Amino acid sequence: MSRRRRIYEGKAKILYEGPEPGTLVQYFKDDATAFNAQKKGVISGKGVLNNSISEYLMTRLSEIGVPNHFIRRLSLREQLIHEVEIVPIEVVVRNIAAGSFSKRFGIAEGTPLPRSIVEFYYKSDELGDPMVTEEHITAFNWAHTQDLDDMVALALRVNDYLSGLFLGVGVKLVDFKLEFGRVYNEHGDVRIILADEISPDSARLWDVQTNEKLDKDRFRQDLGNVEGAYREIARRLGVLPEAEVTELRGSQQAAL
Ligand code: TMP
Repeated sequence: MSRRRRIYEGKAKILYEGPEPGTLVQYFKDDATAFNAQKKGVISGKGVLNNSISEYLMTRLSEIGVPNHFIRRLSLREQLIHEVEIVPIEVVVRNIAAGSFSKRFGIAEGTPLPRSIVEFYYKSDELGDPMVTEEHITAFNWAHTQDLDDMVALALRVNDYLSGLFLGVGVKLVDFKLEFGRVYNEHGDVRIILADEISPDSARLWDVQTNEKLDKDRFRQDLGNVEGAYREIARRLGVLPEAEVTELRGSQQAAL
């Protein structure tokens, strides 16, 4: 990887220059942060699992016509993606109350919401990603009304599709965060596509039967077995990477 020029390093991923113009290599780290990086740690194997989980979900979404940045997986921790101009807005979709929503509105975690609720947060580490409305977003020119309409429509389609997909493997999609980017064609026309990742880092995923948390809340709340939760999501989706399968077999054999 050192041969490639580093374009950007975030908390959980690094972006390198891609092999062709308009492409980037997205590298998944094991680093985890929470509460705007006040809490830091390492979830060993997370990068490999998130690369594989995100590949699977983005591929399924492409098949149903949700445009996204994923091109192909390159290695255990790397995927080739389309370079986009990131819209500095995080779009959160919630189906069940949890996290900051439960705190803000005093609604017990686990309460089903009367309908899916879409929220916007401004991407700013200095400000701690404040919640914003369409008014702020358009007034400060972070995105145009048309961009936002596209983002909300795509986010709701992603929610419908992924809710069903996860339910099929015994998992409730409680909430998740999406990021979008702009791509320009040769005529200068702009299009909004889904970017970043979809993984247990960016979604709350609970077992349907037990409500066991199978996502980054295990790290945020010190619940233990964080790696095991990520691995369980990959296993249920049928995308446990070969390296992990080998490791799992090894540990199962050791336990015999
Ligand atoms: P919240 O309840 O903390 O606002 O989180 C809502 C969803 O967004 C949850 O699935 C976790 C995800 N999320 C991120 O991916 N990145 C973030 O920085 C935050 C705060 C939440």
